[in-house]
Amino acid sequence: MEKYLKDLKSEIDRSEILPILIDYQEKFGFLNYDFISALSERANLPAGNIYGIASFYPQFNFSPKAKYNIKLCSGISCHLKNIKELKAEIFKHTKLNSNGFSSDGKYSFEFVNCLGACAQGPVMKINDKHYINLTKMDIIKIFHELE
Ligand code: FES
Repeated sequence: MEKYLKDLKSEIDRSEILPILIDYQEKFGFLNYDFISALSERANLPAGNIYGIASFYPQFNFSPKAKYNIKLCSGISCHLKNIKELKAEIFKHTKLNSNGFSSDGKYSFEFVNCLGACAQGPVMKINDKHYINLTKMDIIKIFHELE
């Protein structure tokens, strides 16, 4: 991270924040507090504002994730389409612990508020791939392919 920060400009325009957040996450997997704090100083914004920008977008992670990071939408449109059954099926196939990680470190899981495809819910994302109109059978097929 230090080299990354060293290579960043000393003054960052607000329009550059989002591309930098994306780039950082692609390189390091998640946004940590030290990076957000350093970015806030260079953008002359409170760290809470940087966090606010990043937390608006469900693709950002704020902690390390497993090889397959599962994000199941729990926004209202998806919630109304029986995501409880999907969650149970996901947990069955991944053997997730209560901390949201599988014991083999292969899977991590979290609910997110909206993945931007409300009309096509239920929606799930594994790393960068979106799955729409999910059914229990889709979950079985997806996790069979990941095994
Ligand atoms: S509520 Fe699920 S994608 Fe928007």
